[in-house]
Amino acid sequence: MELLKKLYKWIDVRIGAGEIVEKELTGYLLPRNINAWYSLGSVLLFIFALQVVSGILLLIYYVPDADKAFKSVTYIMNDVPFGWLIRMCHAVGSNMMVLVLLLHMLSVLCMGSYKSPREFNWLTGFILLTMVQGISLTGYLLPWSQLSFWATTVATNSANAIPVIGPHLVEFLRGSKMVGPATLGRFFALHVAVIPIGIAAMIGAHLFFLKRTGVSTPPFGRDGTTTPWTGDAYRYEGHPGGIPFFPNYALEDLRSVFIYLALFLAVVFFDPYIFFPRDAFLPANPLVTPAHIKPEWYFLANYQTLKIFPNELIGLSVQGAAMTFLALLPFIDRGRERHPLKRPLFLACAIGGLLLWIGLSVWGHYS
Ligand code: HEM
Repeated sequence: MELLKKLYKWIDVRIGAGEIVEKELTGYLLPRNINAWYSLGSVLLFIFALQVVSGILLLIYYVPDADKAFKSVTYIMNDVPFGWLIRMCHAVGSNMMVLVLLLHMLSVLCMGSYKSPREFNWLTGFILLTMVQGISLTGYLLPWSQLSFWATTVATNSANAIPVIGPHLVEFLRGSKMVGPATLGRFFALHVAVIPIGIAAMIGAHLFFLKRTGVSTPPFGRDGTTTPWTGDAYRYEGHPGGIPFFPNYALEDLRSVFIYLALFLAVVFFDPYIFFPRDAFLPANPLVTPAHIKPEWYFLANYQTLKIFPNELIGLSVQGAAMTFLALLPFIDRGRERHPLKRPLFLACAIGGLLLWIGLSVWGHYS
């Protein structure tokens, strides 16, 4: 202990560590009525770190070659000590990341914290959502199973509906006319390098904007009303008399991380194949089309939307319009009110949109 104190003092004298701790941790005050929903961001940071670590470990034995990929994954599952655990953590973790991401978005939507001056927080968050979708899509191909091969064929095929550039775009995405070794090469590069670096950079931007605006005050309880921001000058939303981030809220973050870990490990140990349909266990065969090929649960609504319209272009345009609407939400919904119950139009649209998404997903699953 004495030694640690001496070490801390040694560092402090050189780089002013005490000042940083005071400014960023113990003196960084959060709203007094802050709730557990605000810890989902930290849970996401934790999940991303776990995905990076488990992904690097998988890279030790995974071979990104169309002839060897499936065998290498089977080897990881059956022969590498704890290989099954690492792979299951990575596969289950990717699904959990999307789930927690959606919950984080839902909480930001309900508490109106996407509203000005937090447009940049929302926009960087939205880009993170699309990048997480991209990393899942590219990762799906890597095991080179029947599921990987055909799900990627269906997903890339949908770009064909775009007039003029569609067929060129499909060939560009696949690296050839059909999904094949060239597709595996580019999806591998995107999955292990381009997108993770992009996500890390975007998380940095997301946190930078959070630091500049300050954490929003939840619109609930006695402390729920804050001085409205006029938009004329920059204002940091500080919280004098609030809860210190360290140790108080950091412990709340930790509690949420442990609750997450309990749920995550319960899936990993008791029902790891919940996210693996039968075709995930068969090697890719371009000559045999499986009877039912479905994307992951979070793409089922997109998949069903493409199917219900007679023309794929209409289906794609509807999805593009919905995503653009979501991206531009802070610029469309400009009201100052943040309490969800005092925003009846928002609440009706949010509940309607959520039910529609769930309905389309269930329909996609059983169709
Ligand atoms: C990898 C994905 C993401 C990570 C790691 C992440 C991380 C964080 C963290 C640590 C916070 C601060 C604490 C909190 O309010 O939870 C935060 C706040 C925020 N996030 Fe995210 N986020 C991610 C994705 C998203 C997405 C998809 C959106 C919405 C499209 C979003 C919108 C916001 C907004 C508006 C805030 C400000 C909330 C406030 O000040 O009350 N984030 N995020």
